[in-house]
Amino acid sequence: MKRAIIAAFAAIIMGNAAYADTIKIGVVGPFSGPFALQGKNFKAGIDAYTAMNGTTIGDDTVEIIYRDLPAADPAQSKALAQELVVKEKVQYLAGFYFTPDAMAVTPILKQANVPLVVMNAATSAIVTKSPLVVRTSFTTWQTSTPIAKVAHDAGVAKVISIVSDYGPGIDAENAFKAGFEKEGGAVVEAIRMPLSTNDFSPIMQRIKDSGAQGVFAFLPSGPTTLGFVKAYNENGLKAAGIKFFAPGDLTQESDLPALGDAALGIQTTFHYAVSHDSAENKAFVEAASKAIGNPAELSFPSVGAFDGMNVIYKMIEATGGEQNAQKAVDAVKGLSWVSPRGPVSIDPESRHITQNIYLREVTKADDGSYYNKEIQTFEKQGDPGLAAVK
Ligand code: PHB
Repeated sequence: MKRAIIAAFAAIIMGNAAYADTIKIGVVGPFSGPFALQGKNFKAGIDAYTAMNGTTIGDDTVEIIYRDLPAADPAQSKALAQELVVKEKVQYLAGFYFTPDAMAVTPILKQANVPLVVMNAATSAIVTKSPLVVRTSFTTWQTSTPIAKVAHDAGVAKVISIVSDYGPGIDAENAFKAGFEKEGGAVVEAIRMPLSTNDFSPIMQRIKDSGAQGVFAFLPSGPTTLGFVKAYNENGLKAAGIKFFAPGDLTQESDLPALGDAALGIQTTFHYAVSHDSAENKAFVEAASKAIGNPAELSFPSVGAFDGMNVIYKMIEATGGEQNAQKAVDAVKGLSWVSPRGPVSIDPESRHITQNIYLREVTKADDGSYYNKEIQTFEKQGDPGLAAVK
């Protein structure tokens, strides 16, 4: 009896630290507004992971708490992360679609004793801002370097570069330029557009006037990319023979029905295609399709989230549910597994994901639907952008 009372008393005093039964994960992403489909993909990837792997790890149960951040808004991102840490007592922060939102959270991680698992934001420098950041998505350096070689191999010598004027756009511009010049090509003009740009006709005129044989473009996936590719088609650039080169953000699967035949033949390089042919991807697409409801809405943020959950589960396993952010992060350094995208690993130094990058071409299937068909693999790509950051 006495022993039982002491045990009960100890349980109360030690609280969650020793007897943690619910581990909370705070996920921040765009769940409403123009980018809501991207946030919906975060949730579909997370739901697919828990459907396939359950919600218990040892004695612990995982609970996901979502917070909506519709647009890039660093102040709001930090406020939401603080609320999740202080009020909800989350042990992990995850999600983060836009770079400025991920960047804004890095200063609070150490004091909060919380790892951040970035499921999308793609600027190389994010992982250097705190040793507690791990990233399971991609960087625009990683995805934009191979397309430079593709452009050169297509016989193009002069390219105009058009990017959104913020972290991942500037990284993409630098990556393409470095890769293309190495091949002997020239970037004749580099334009950075405000993130809020949605009328692309003036840009299309500048592309025509530049005399370039090809255009390289990066914008964050969503209504922005759909509008840009539509403008490229509708302003006659495609008809004029100006070739289009971009990372796969520009042809995400959920945009393809709206782009229609005009997008056929567009080549992009990216870490994930919904069509990727593997047993792991088949199982993932089945679970994620069920989670999202409409399979045509599936896109790459779902796989960043799915793999992010895999990393968090490994962290929980390694710490036995104890809140120890450094121990959790150390446990996944060098971790390798087969993702729906192909074989991946967490680089122990950068804590960023090493992965294949695929050249894909927008193709029409027999049933009339459109997909990104993988046609070449650039194996085991690290992040070339990290050398540029250092
Ligand atoms: C980012 O803000 O880092 C970002 C957002 C969407 C993308 C790529 C990068 O498609």
